[in-house]
Amino acid sequence: MTTRQDEIRSHVSESYTRAVTTPGAGCCGGMQPAQKGVVVRSAGYGRELNDLPADAVENSFGCGNPLAFSEVREGDTVIDLGSGAGIDLLIAAKKTGPTGRVIGIDMTDAMIERARGNIAAAGVSDYVEVRKGLIESLPVESGTVDWVISNCVINLSPEKDRVFAEIARVLKPGGRMLVSDIVVENLPEELRRNQALYNSCVAGAISEKDYLDGLRQAGMTDVQVRTRHIYDDVQLEALIESEIVEPSAAPAAKSGGCCAPSCCGGSGDVDVAQMARRARGKIASISVYARKS
Ligand SMILES: C[S@@+](CC[C@H](N)C(=O)[O-])C[C@H]1O[C@@H](n2cnc3c(N)ncnc32)[C@H](O)[C@@H]1O
Repeated sequence: MTTRQDEIRSHVSESYTRAVTTPGAGCCGGMQPAQKGVVVRSAGYGRELNDLPADAVENSFGCGNPLAFSEVREGDTVIDLGSGAGIDLLIAAKKTGPTGRVIGIDMTDAMIERARGNIAAAGVSDYVEVRKGLIESLPVESGTVDWVISNCVINLSPEKDRVFAEIARVLKPGGRMLVSDIVVENLPEELRRNQALYNSCVAGAISEKDYLDGLRQAGMTDVQVRTRHIYDDVQLEALIESEIVEPSAAPAAKSGGCCAPSCCGGSGDVDVAQMARRARGKIASISVYARKS
């Protein structure tokens, strides 16, 4: 039987398939291509991008740089929840080296194919792999992982408590997690209900308090926010415009040839500036650290 949760995952997976396979697509995965560079930079990456395959960088849909705040070491086993086209897998591989192991988990075939291509291009196939699966039911043995990382994915899960429990299950005692993600406070209802904003990591997000409480309830300790970036009006307007304004109404969407109404919710006469004002101060990207004792 297909559950409501399965339906949500299926919508999310379709939108990321479109985002990674449609030339010029920016819809439902984040931004128009022209904006992607801005997003990648504002996600906090720096020199670590220099020698990565361009495809991995161009198809990055994260909202942070989880590895910048981790202490992943040579020989560690790292798993990346929702590894997408593989940007963080490749950065992790530089830290673990070939004596470690890096495993990405993703449910979307098109993303997995992309990541495998990027792993091969980077020459790290011996110790980096992607497994198809759900982050709510990780295809990873219990107690085998030193670090769990993730970049803008858990907000997309309709069953976040299951994800938190899975993180605690797969980590070794003393293992740690560093996750970048979106959190929201009192999101206006018209934004909360918008499927395109769900797919772009906003409408499914929970509050920072619920996020930290969820991790503690799963048994994680030392739970703490390491960085917090509250989106400003310009960033909010770019996000809303690229996601929920119909092609006829959005110059960015016109030039990108994306955002068909069926994909983006078709909001017609959207007052982008007003929506952004209503979301002001309510959407943030955070990096969360926790440890399994
Ligand atoms: C916002 S993108 C982030 C990709 C990557 N972490 C990055 O930074 O570029 C979300 C990714 O998570 C995957 N994803 C979303 N929900 C998932 C779930 N419940 N189980 C497995 N993968 C999921 C999507 O297929 C997509 O590749």
